[in-house]
Amino acid sequence: MNSEAAQERIISLSNDIHNYNHLYYVENKSVISDYEFDLLLKELQDLEKRFPELQQVNSPTQRVGGDISKKFNTVTHQYPMLSLGNTYAEDEIVEWVNRIQKSISDPIEFVCELKYDGVAIGIRYEQGVLTRALTRGDGQAGEEVTQNVKTIRSIPLKLKGDFPSDFEIRGEVFMPLSQFEKLNKERDELGEQRFANPRNTASGTLKMLDSKIVASRNLDSYLYGLYGTDSIDSGHYETVLHAAQWGFKTPLPEERFIAKVSSVSEIMDFIDFWDKKREDLPFEIDGIVIKVNDYQQQKALGFTAKSPRWAISFKFKTKRVETELLSLSYQVGRTGAITPVANLNAVQLGGTTVRRASLYNADQIEKLDLHLGDFVYVEKGGEIIPKIVGVNLEKRKNDSEAIVFITHCPECNSELKRREGEVHHYCLNESSCPTQVMGKMQHFISRKALNIDGLGEETISLLFENKLISNCADIYTLSREKLLLLDRMAEKSVDNLLFSIEQSKTIRFDRVLFGLGIRFVGETVAKKLAKHFKSMEKISIATFDELIEVDEIGEKIAISVQQYFQDPSNLLLIDRLMQYGLQFTLPDELLLSSIFIGKTLVVSGTFLAFSREELKQLIEKNGGKLGSSVSSKTDYLVAGANMGPAKLKTANDNGVVILSEDDFIKMISL
Ligand code: IVH
Repeated sequence: MNSEAAQERIISLSNDIHNYNHLYYVENKSVISDYEFDLLLKELQDLEKRFPELQQVNSPTQRVGGDISKKFNTVTHQYPMLSLGNTYAEDEIVEWVNRIQKSISDPIEFVCELKYDGVAIGIRYEQGVLTRALTRGDGQAGEEVTQNVKTIRSIPLKLKGDFPSDFEIRGEVFMPLSQFEKLNKERDELGEQRFANPRNTASGTLKMLDSKIVASRNLDSYLYGLYGTDSIDSGHYETVLHAAQWGFKTPLPEERFIAKVSSVSEIMDFIDFWDKKREDLPFEIDGIVIKVNDYQQQKALGFTAKSPRWAISFKFKTKRVETELLSLSYQVGRTGAITPVANLNAVQLGGTTVRRASLYNADQIEKLDLHLGDFVYVEKGGEIIPKIVGVNLEKRKNDSEAIVFITHCPECNSELKRREGEVHHYCLNESSCPTQVMGKMQHFISRKALNIDGLGEETISLLFENKLISNCADIYTLSREKLLLLDRMAEKSVDNLLFSIEQSKTIRFDRVLFGLGIRFVGETVAKKLAKHFKSMEKISIATFDELIEVDEIGEKIAISVQQYFQDPSNLLLIDRLMQYGLQFTLPDELLLSSIFIGKTLVVSGTFLAFSREELKQLIEKNGGKLGSSVSSKTDYLVAGANMGPAKLKTANDNGVVILSEDDFIKMISL
């Protein structure tokens, strides 16, 4: 491919990818599949590697992160980044409005917005290109985290429409609740301490030196203020809506994330609405911000030393209740990890009845110094399960006893162990603790692993109790006859189950590896291992050093993987699964396209844009198989210059389609 063609393709790919990004992350519209998106991105990455000089400014390939910063530079803000005056009382909002109305004689419009609970960010755009992003810092100067901010998909790298030539936009970077829960689940799997809340996690993430990790954390943003643009629109509300046209993710009036109002009662309505509804949001807010809309009026009101007089924030009170701690239960996970759960005297909290709260691990119990019968404070944060945040010591009885963590497994009575540096206690009886055995099977069949439909928790217990299955490989020995003997299995569900067991044999290797439930090998780690080693056999014989060479695989994971493969019962299990036909290797490289899948191509002659070797690789990367000579089995002959006439004749005789170099390029759409 020559440089001109490459440039054209790079520009077109960059524009398309920017556009798909915007549609997906800002407008919530998915117009192509993840796979197709990845293909386009990979093609662009490859082209940029081949033609680095043609890379576009702020190419969408920067979204995946790359450079590791040594430290962040401190940069002075062009406009100081102030904070807001806070209040928890509605009366104070009334006072604030009255004060403003006294000093401004014209009618005043107010803008009500959500107060996103994240980290403030100021982003500069010059000629429509994101050039710099700063954290708040001390308000006067912040840290330059541009590289990290570029990985946030809802923040445009390039603007569209009639954007101003040089301006700063400010907003909040936060971690959506679903992402926060996913991250904590991964931490649980790794036996690592959980992150405390989405805000701190977002803040810590934004200040990470490795932008690749930032990219993987899926931060999101909403933008709420523009600087250097007041000459375009007369008010804040209009400017914010205008910014959406340039590609920013701004709050939408139709979702009631922003509203322009003109009375105290409308402000109160907005506050009350979100105080009730905030738990339905996919991210956390900690209040409502009210701003004077008109820029002239804002100027007239000015600032105090710390904050603008034209804005105020109303903070929601955290929903917290007090209730009695009745007892503790201990749950055994599939890896043997023990999770303590508090059983509470039922209490209403934010519209739901709370009976249980997770305590995570022994450290948490110790930190709270819990005693049985304590009156504890329970809060509902971003997580589904409420948390115990403290104890009302005044109500503690003198003779109450501190909780001592159990020493033996509540399911099989084996002694529990807590290894050095780990947060959980473990039951080590992996092969016969029934909860662990069933938990492992449940994990194996789960959607992200082997995805065997029709084998829910109950069916697994039923099959286990009837001794039809006692490990994951046994699932593949289930027959129609055996299943029909069970009371609760009707013919139709038996057929569906057998079909989905059969289907699971086509599930990709990394998901099989994940399904085995090796300690610390979650979804991401399984993908990394599979991609690196390509087969179960290679992983099973990998040395410690080879394992830790893999991106993001640390010592703890390496030790766990090695231990897994040293256990003969695991080797036997894998051997059986292999015999039943599950996938234990990963096909090579991700394909660039699927255009030649199932086709055989023969290459002949010489080419202008590629060497023969490059052409062959391209055929394979686009799904094709290479044939050595033309025959009736050939689908395409890629014909270069100086090709022998005999080959051409054989091709014609066998009805083989002949592709010129240009035809070929068009087909793989380079
Ligand atoms: S306006 C001059 N609007 O709350 C201050 N701030 O103390 C302009 N925040 O750290 C801030 N949502 O990051 C504004 N809709 C919103 C906001 C918001 C969250 C944060 C902001 C700042 C803090 C204010």
